[in-house]
Amino acid sequence: MHFGPRHWYGNNKLLLEKINSYSADIVINTGDNTTDALENEFEAAGDFLKLINCPHIVSIPGNHDKRNMRSADYFRQYIDNVDVIRPLNRDNCKKNSIFLDAYTNGITDQFTDFNFLKKITINDVSVLVVCVDTTSLYEDIGYVDIEMLRTLSHAIGKESYDRIILLVHHSILDSDSDPLFNSRIVVEFVREHKIDYVFCGHTHQLSMMKSTDLYHKHSFTQYKNGSLSSINTPNDTNMLLYYKNFGAAAMDVHVVRVKVENECLRFTEEVITAS
Ligand SMILES: [Fe+2]
Repeated sequence: MHFGPRHWYGNNKLLLEKINSYSADIVINTGDNTTDALENEFEAAGDFLKLINCPHIVSIPGNHDKRNMRSADYFRQYIDNVDVIRPLNRDNCKKNSIFLDAYTNGITDQFTDFNFLKKITINDVSVLVVCVDTTSLYEDIGYVDIEMLRTLSHAIGKESYDRIILLVHHSILDSDSDPLFNSRIVVEFVREHKIDYVFCGHTHQLSMMKSTDLYHKHSFTQYKNGSLSSINTPNDTNMLLYYKNFGAAAMDVHVVRVKVENECLRFTEEVITAS
């Protein structure tokens, strides 16, 4: 969404009406809520998210949301006050600035990574949403801390669920010039937990890719949503994806493109058969 100078000039109210017309069970927000992680940008993004009529909105931070030492505080205050999972052993963490000196900086939450689980039950089907933070403070390139994956695996092992999905900001299959540096360990994590669906954002460009590991006989699909409402869309239009009958044989994906036309929005919708 890139609230701030990179947010689009379109009408948010009309966009919200369109989003709400789907009556979604789950809304997935794959990060870059802000442009520069300023407090007023987080606040505007949070105000937008509050107007989505959905009981289960899952938001993760993007690299743009980590451009401020107060990012973790602001994300929790305005976007979602999630139960962030702390590393089993903080001495094993390798990511830059994953811990800050809270005393010196005057911040309330000195841990900057947003790894968490959400279990959502819809029509008696439980979906475990695994959120892995690929972003680092002050950096656009992605990096995943292996100790956090180990910690998440430990937490997932304690859960029971019918389906499991993964949310990451950076793509783990196709990258741009600010890629996820160590995507291999995330692909292994996907295989280890038999995750079938991965959702990511970051590049402002739609891609839907199925990857098959021929040696381990494991496949997964990654959906990379384009931008919802950013002016920074050189590669593609603003869009949202609607996953109908998610995970079922009859699943299809609606690619809903959004064009700004004067005071109005024009929506076009393609239906992509998922199988
Ligand atoms: Fe990004």
